Amino acid sequence: MARITQFAALCAAVSRGVEAAVSFAVPSKVGTGGYTYAPLDPAPVGISFEFFAFPSYFTNVTATNQCLSNWKDLAGTWPPIRIGGTTQDRAQYDASTSAYVVYSVAKPADAPMTLTFGPKFMTLAGTYPGTVVVDYTKDGQPIASGTWNAATDAASQANWNIRVGSAVGKTNIIQAGNWNQPPPEWGAAQLIAKENATSKQYVRHYAHHNYPGGSIEKLQTHSQTASNVRSMFEADVAAVKRQTGKEYVLGETNSVSGGGAANVSPTFGAALWTMDYILRATATNISRVYFHHGTVGNCQYCFWGRYSMGAPYYGATAAVAFLAGARHVAALDAGTTKYAAYASFDAEGQPLRVLLFNSEYYAGAGSARTVQRFTLTGLAGAPVRAKRLTAASSLARADKGDEISFGGQRWTDGTCVVAGAETFETAKVENGQAVFDVKAAEALVVYL
Ligand SMILES: *[C@@H]1O[C@H](CO)[C@@H](O)[C@H](O)[C@H]1NC(C)=O
Ligand SMILES: *[C@@H]1O[C@H](CO)[C@@H](O)[C@H](O)[C@H]1NC(C)=O
Ligand SMILES: *[C@@H]1O[C@H](CO)[C@@H](O)[C@H](O)[C@H]1NC(C)=O
Repeated sequence: MARITQFAALCAAVSRGVEAAVSFAVPSKVGTGGYTYAPLDPAPVGISFEFFAFPSYFTNVTATNQCLSNWKDLAGTWPPIRIGGTTQDRAQYDASTSAYVVYSVAKPADAPMTLTFGPKFMTLAGTYPGTVVVDYTKDGQPIASGTWNAATDAASQANWNIRVGSAVGKTNIIQAGNWNQPPPEWGAAQLIAKENATSKQYVRHYAHHNYPGGSIEKLQTHSQTASNVRSMFEADVAAVKRQTGKEYVLGETNSVSGGGAANVSPTFGAALWTMDYILRATATNISRVYFHHGTVGNCQYCFWGRYSMGAPYYGATAAVAFLAGARHVAALDAGTTKYAAYASFDAEGQPLRVLLFNSEYYAGAGSARTVQRFTLTGLAGAPVRAKRLTAASSLARADKGDEISFGGQRWTDGTCVVAGAETFETAKVENGQAVFDVKAAEALVVYL
């Protein structure tokens, strides 16, 4: 499947500090060239909001609506959202409260240990123009204690699908799953085994959670991301497709669990991971990826906050731009090196864009920044344009004012309004080939 060729002719390039090229053949049409293709959801990149913080994001954080509508403008569809997380497990519905949520915390950075929510909370969720997934309250089961395990959870969910689905009177509505252990111990396949046809009909998606963690260098390394997605999810996704024909989503995910790691999650390296992870997941038939957003003002992995942007928004936006309007995606590399290439395809099956990613770590001033040359073959004759996702280093942080840009643009702190002129590079195509130089810790979206 990988189309990686070392070009001896590029010794000259190497002597200029450019690594020998890796080469990828762009398929002329979906389904060709020996690659594996995945169908795409119209809006595969979603946001998950921590339950108690959701009203605050939508009433008290100016950037929220703009950051989401920027993606709607690119893709033509509002990004899906999900409301849930640990504080949902602690929440009780109070029909009499006029507030969205009621809780008290010792410090603003804390998440509440107990809370109630009222009808206004559900009304607010209902005003969002995209799709919304809301967790429901626990049903008195001893979650995270004693006898709670994959089998108990699956039996409880199988039964719960029926109780909720029959009460609401609609099928195909539940995002099932969201497990404490990775597959195959606690995956969709284990749940499906406990569901009968009555229970299954209420399920719309099967979901799992994932926080890969690790250092910035490890997190941004492409082979690591590809391996995480493959080893954790490939078999579970295939089981869901085979046994139910339903979709698989990452219902809650981000770089590092527990709100993120202060020295990892807000960096450009984490932004590159965000981009690559979205693409590897979608190319593996994961329909949607919901990135979790926690306590406002205490959230290392958040894409935006009340006062500043987070670097990961840049990576996510590059992925949204690459996938916008596309119907299929394919990984062109085998996921075993630091160099990635993906292709997206339009409704006619024609190649739409290619994304090239050099996941080599770059620590910044004082170390040499290597350059990887990518050759694309199989292109049509006309010159192609490209947008570059770049930053001063893997450590760059939008929230610290470091320079990060995508196609020459950045997003303004506090508002998420785009700033700067949209900038494309142009590459000429000769004999169906074009070359692109991508520095360590950079990516390029090529518009075909
Ligand atoms: C909105 O933000 C301000 C400033 O941090 C805070 O004092 C206020 O409690 C917040 N309101 C809500 C509804 O979260
Ligand atoms: C399906 O399973 C549920 C428990 O999850 C059970 O209550 C119900 O009777 C089963 N329905 C059929 C038709 O077997
Ligand atoms: C994704 O699903 C399609 C069918 O919808 C299948 O042809 C393809 O092989 C799957 N891709 C992967 C990576 O499993």
